[in-house]
Amino acid sequence: MNRENMTQDNPRPRIVFETHETDDILFVESLCWRMLAEAVTDRRSPMHTVVVGTAAGGIAHLRTVIIRRVDTDVRKAYFHTDIRSGKIAEIRASGHLSWLAYDAARRSQLRFGGPTVLHHRDELCRLHWQDTKRFSRRCYLLPEGPGLPLAHPDEPFDERLSGFSYTSEESEAGFDHFVVVETDVDELEWYYTHNRGNRRARFRYASGGLLRSDWLTP
Ligand SMILES: Cc1cc2nc3c(=O)[nH]c(=O)nc-3n(C[C@H](O)[C@H](O)[C@H](O)COP(=O)(O)O)c2cc1C
Repeated sequence: MNRENMTQDNPRPRIVFETHETDDILFVESLCWRMLAEAVTDRRSPMHTVVVGTAAGGIAHLRTVIIRRVDTDVRKAYFHTDIRSGKIAEIRASGHLSWLAYDAARRSQLRFGGPTVLHHRDELCRLHWQDTKRFSRRCYLLPEGPGLPLAHPDEPFDERLSGFSYTSEESEAGFDHFVVVETDVDELEWYYTHNRGNRRARFRYASGGLLRSDWLTP
């Protein structure tokens, strides 16, 4: 597994490509995954933040998250969240997640998704937790959990939401709320806008391997 993507300490060079290179559909497929892998390690990448979508009662629910890890060899994508957040019930109900990433400079939109599992209090969850910084554990320490009225609305905001006076040891309490969401991508679509004609390609995967590649009408 491509665990090197788990840290942000080693940004890779920005990926550059020419339109003519995308005539090769397998180049496109590898390009898509390279862009996602780069987005994990490079905070400047527009794909560092992605949108993930769930559905409930026939209504789509979308939110921005940070892409935390990509296993390019087995086509998996991961983000971190709070087990108490609203999206968890929706992911559990469908067992699926839809992802959207867009890089305007590279004129590339990626839509992908697939079966999704939650890692909570397991080995992988612990591995990711150990990689989080003390200050980013703040949200996992709030007693209310996300999306609920604040328990103590009269306290100053700084105290409630941005107090970082806790020690690393105290921040360990957040682990109980921390969850790693893993999507086993079974379909990925690339849409490329260009003044000489937009391009669109779809890739299907099974067990992490490329099953088929198709050019689509844009
Ligand atoms: C730039 C940005 C990055 C975010 N990253 C995350 C993230 O990695 N994980 C997360 O759970 N929420 C993240 N959020 C907050 C989510 O967009 C969302 O508001 C929150 O997770 C609650 O969603 P839910 O109520 O659908 O569960 C981020 C928001 C912004 C604006």
